[in-house]
Amino acid sequence: MKRIRLMLLFLLGCAAGAAPAPARQMQSFDRDWKFQFGDVPGAERPEWDDAHWRLLNVPHDWSIEGVSAGPDSEGPFDRKSPGGTGAGALNGGIGWYRKSFTLPADAQGQRVFVQFDGVYMDSEVWLNGISLGRHPYGYTSFQYDLTPHVKFGATNILAVRVNVQQPCSRWYSGAGIYRHVRLVLTDPLHIAQWGVYVTTPEVSASEAKVRVRTSIGNTGATDTTVTLSTTLTAPAPGIMPPREDQATHVVPAGGTYEFDQLLKVDNVQLWSVERPALYQAHSVIRAGGQRKDAGATFFGIRTITFTPDDGFLLNGKRVQIHGVCNHHDLGPLGAAVNRRAIERQLEILKGMGCNAIRTSHNPPAPELLDACDRLGFLVMDEAFDEWIIPKSRMKYGYGRFFNEWSERDLVSMLHRDRNHPSVILWSIGNEIKEQAAANGGAMAQRLADICHREDPTRPVTSGCNKVGSAVANGFAKALDVLGLNYFTNEYQAQRGKVLVAAETSSALSSRGEYGLERKADGQVEIRTQSKNQCASYDLDCPGWGLPAEASLRAVKNAPWVAGEFVWTGFDYFGEPTPFGWPSRSSYFGIMDLCGFPKDRYYLYQSQWTDQPMVHVLPHWNWTGFEGQAIPVWAYSNGDAVELYLNGQSLGAQDRTKQKGLHWEWQVPYVPGELKIVARREGRVVAEKVVRTAGPPAKLMALVDRPTIQADGDDVAFVEVRVVDRDGNVCPNARSKISIRLQGPGTVAGMDNGDPTCHEPIKATAHTAFHGLCLAVIRAGHEPGAIRLTAAAADLTSADATITTGPAAP
Ligand code: GAL
Repeated sequence: MKRIRLMLLFLLGCAAGAAPAPARQMQSFDRDWKFQFGDVPGAERPEWDDAHWRLLNVPHDWSIEGVSAGPDSEGPFDRKSPGGTGAGALNGGIGWYRKSFTLPADAQGQRVFVQFDGVYMDSEVWLNGISLGRHPYGYTSFQYDLTPHVKFGATNILAVRVNVQQPCSRWYSGAGIYRHVRLVLTDPLHIAQWGVYVTTPEVSASEAKVRVRTSIGNTGATDTTVTLSTTLTAPAPGIMPPREDQATHVVPAGGTYEFDQLLKVDNVQLWSVERPALYQAHSVIRAGGQRKDAGATFFGIRTITFTPDDGFLLNGKRVQIHGVCNHHDLGPLGAAVNRRAIERQLEILKGMGCNAIRTSHNPPAPELLDACDRLGFLVMDEAFDEWIIPKSRMKYGYGRFFNEWSERDLVSMLHRDRNHPSVILWSIGNEIKEQAAANGGAMAQRLADICHREDPTRPVTSGCNKVGSAVANGFAKALDVLGLNYFTNEYQAQRGKVLVAAETSSALSSRGEYGLERKADGQVEIRTQSKNQCASYDLDCPGWGLPAEASLRAVKNAPWVAGEFVWTGFDYFGEPTPFGWPSRSSYFGIMDLCGFPKDRYYLYQSQWTDQPMVHVLPHWNWTGFEGQAIPVWAYSNGDAVELYLNGQSLGAQDRTKQKGLHWEWQVPYVPGELKIVARREGRVVAEKVVRTAGPPAKLMALVDRPTIQADGDDVAFVEVRVVDRDGNVCPNARSKISIRLQGPGTVAGMDNGDPTCHEPIKATAHTAFHGLCLAVIRAGHEPGAIRLTAAAADLTSADATITTGPAAP
């Protein structure tokens, strides 16, 4: 848990010689779990022999490993998976984890908690054979108090059973303890979990009032007088001296007390997309002259307003939401959360001009929100994809648990996430079936009321695809912001309400596929779908969607709508609409599963950024098409473009010549060089060249960061390219690339972005798709140099070095 970064603090003022007992200790509980796939009744018993179980670290996703793939499957992907291709043709099942740990004898008297950021799904946890509880939803964070059953100075066994019955999800969910776990020791007097809640009730350009509510728990036997000191620190030195406030109150034995403090901040640094300034609230509690607990909470000072006429205002200024929806899997890492993989995704999105994320359709990992706070992304934080009425064939979906768990799960999301300045909207659900149910309005109102009760500072929305019924049954009325999925006619029809385009486009494409075919009459046609691939000309979408351009224009023409969340930023495992098997991952991404941009990336960049850019498609290797007219498209934010083939101009075109949001030519194919130039007011501002590549000659290995942390978790992304002797990517290359490592690192996963590829993700070799593949290299715990060699038959291999430096404290 980053939001309350609870530090290791020692009691002050202990008698000389006595070992000071730490006031709060938080330790990662990620390492050295034993894992067994399949049900093992009785494995919760401490004496259970797990000697032959696999030893691993979490976050862990067994589903991506393909542990249960059927005998006739070609890899980890299983044609007969009960989750179907919708869930990525990857299996769930039951898995067990066990971890043994020892607490020092002198920790006796402390409270001991275990915190799970997320376990997919339906987990039950036992300590020393005693059940602590069950947590069905796979996306919410939870903790158990181990104190009553934990042994100090002796071995304890924590056992976790995870039950993924399929079909339970419309996308790839992953399976297992796929997020981080921590062990927390506190004094009986301590800050409650997510117990600090920071709001900014008054904000002006120069001054802000900061309200800090802090819940203190007392599990001791006596009422205790507690002094809370809260200190606010500025985003950088020299902005404002720390502001401190102290308050004292009795915290009843066995109870909690909520302190409520108001502090003033001057010389305010507002949090914004461009300058995401983060303050911290440091909390320290003392009793009887002793320091008992401490923590630090990041927060931002900003105002958010949604209006019916002018969309969304951040700090009083209109900000157009240029957002994407994303599922949580991280391509070759599966669902196992990874801080750097999330950060890399956000960096790629930032380069496209994206400023917002919808965590479709579930609460995200805390690391995502931390990164959004830091990098300046707005977030629609979403709770559910399903209430009671199941979607399609989701026999084991969340509907089974909704009545008993929805309030707890929603509150878990709200309490955990409500200090994040990036979060601007709570979504109570996506395309909820109850939009059309008689009690849908009342159900929506109940959830909206819970959001308002726990956090009155943010509006509530929901992604609606049945707006007529949702308006009729009161569902829409329960929302502060009406979320519109697709159906762009509703932008006008619902005008007057506060609106956001919660989901748009669903354009389809495969990176590097153009679907060009010669017809009998010799003409070239674009087949938008063929052989389970979708062409990258922006022409294709399912019945409910729109090509990206059409969708962008619809939003642009409706400035009263707060902006859009495109379906999706990245391809994800599962939901390979419009195909079934052998496809196993989606075609909706602006990026493929490896994070490599498809051509649509440049369309968004041309619309969402101002930094001069130009892009041209397709590639220029069309042997067999000589003399035939190839459709060439360009995207740019310049005001005119000019295309050259082998040095000869094919004409300049200004914006009046655009077809929608792109320019088009028909270019008779001659191998060589296609160059596109963009101009502003006659001046060249950007250019790009695509050359006909010769035969594959060598590999290139491009590392995203040459130095990573030796913390066992940090990763480097290595893009391996198949190139000709001049370094041009060979767009048709399918070489099998193997990765060899020397030094303190391992291959965490490989993929190539081909939605039909069945090669194992957890492997050290992979076929290239359109000349590219990706290897994710994970650091070990030892600092050193990882020497990587990428090799393929008949090609010159490529070397790269990744240094692993000391882990950050
Ligand atoms: C939407 C749905 C998304 C995804 C998308 C695909 O209707 O909300 O979860 O399924 O369709 O186009």
